[in-house]
Amino acid sequence: MEVIENIDEMFKVSRALKKSSETIGLVPTMGCLHKGHLSLLEIAKKECTKVIMSIFVNPTQFSPGEDYEKYPRDFKADYEIAKNAGVDYIFYPGAKDMYNKNFKTFINVEKLSEIMCGACRPGHFRGVCTVVLKLFNIICPDIAYFGQKDYQQLLIIRRMAEDLNLKITITGCPTIREDDGLAISSRNNYLSENERKNAVILFNCLKTALELLKKGGKDLKSTGKLIQKRFEKNKFVTKVEYFDFRDAENLDEIKDLNKYFKRKPRGSILIASAVWIGNTRLIDNIIFSFN
Ligand code: PAJ
Repeated sequence: MEVIENIDEMFKVSRALKKSSETIGLVPTMGCLHKGHLSLLEIAKKECTKVIMSIFVNPTQFSPGEDYEKYPRDFKADYEIAKNAGVDYIFYPGAKDMYNKNFKTFINVEKLSEIMCGACRPGHFRGVCTVVLKLFNIICPDIAYFGQKDYQQLLIIRRMAEDLNLKITITGCPTIREDDGLAISSRNNYLSENERKNAVILFNCLKTALELLKKGGKDLKSTGKLIQKRFEKNKFVTKVEYFDFRDAENLDEIKDLNKYFKRKPRGSILIASAVWIGNTRLIDNIIFSFN
């Protein structure tokens, strides 16, 4: 496994790989690798002849006051994990190289970036799209892999790829969870022991909402209220940013299920939420498919 820090070098290597007809799979990450990242790598290894993992804590997707500085970084550990997982190249650029002092260009996927996590973290997806497009341009992948845990991110990147005619397949990969159901995330490291035990409430609430939907419960307002009460009862939940029912294809909000089902006899509903456990923001989602 080779580590490439220099952007021009990465550019050259990826063009040489393309010339030799390799299929390049890209797994973009911010490091602090865990089983969720590994699952993306595993899928990439099966589908591509060369796998490139980028590790870059992207400053432009953090708002002032967010956890950019304290975001966990451990390149040595990441190196070992990536090597054991069969990564061919780690792309590990520096922030000053990715964003030189004259940097002025940002990518904004309208509407989709303004709701849910985008409403709570203004500018977040603008930063994500900008860095992902830069990675795409530098690495020129055939397929890029993203987790469904960050469902909105996945959809926004798909939209960007389609809108900008990028000839890159965007593959969504299932969410990997701890034994109790908590979605694995680098930010779980911030949780105290008690917070960690209680953090599973997020997945449990999503599951409850899913069960109610499956049983035919069409009153989303009362499901929402029930979930809100459950969160309120748990003293470790310090804030519920959103708990939404949305069309999984376009993130349109679903308010009236009867009307929705009439319009769409088959499809998928995304139940997605962001909550704070103590000082840690966690997101998760679950999908209900119907036909
Ligand atoms: P990061 O949070 O490091 O996540 C990298 C990729 O791993 C994302 O596609 C994310 O959805 C996926 N992932 C994280 N936890 C997962 C889990 N439990 N199961 C499955 N996949 C999981 O997302 C980012 O970095 C950044 O925004 C990035 C796309 C790299 C741009 O900076």
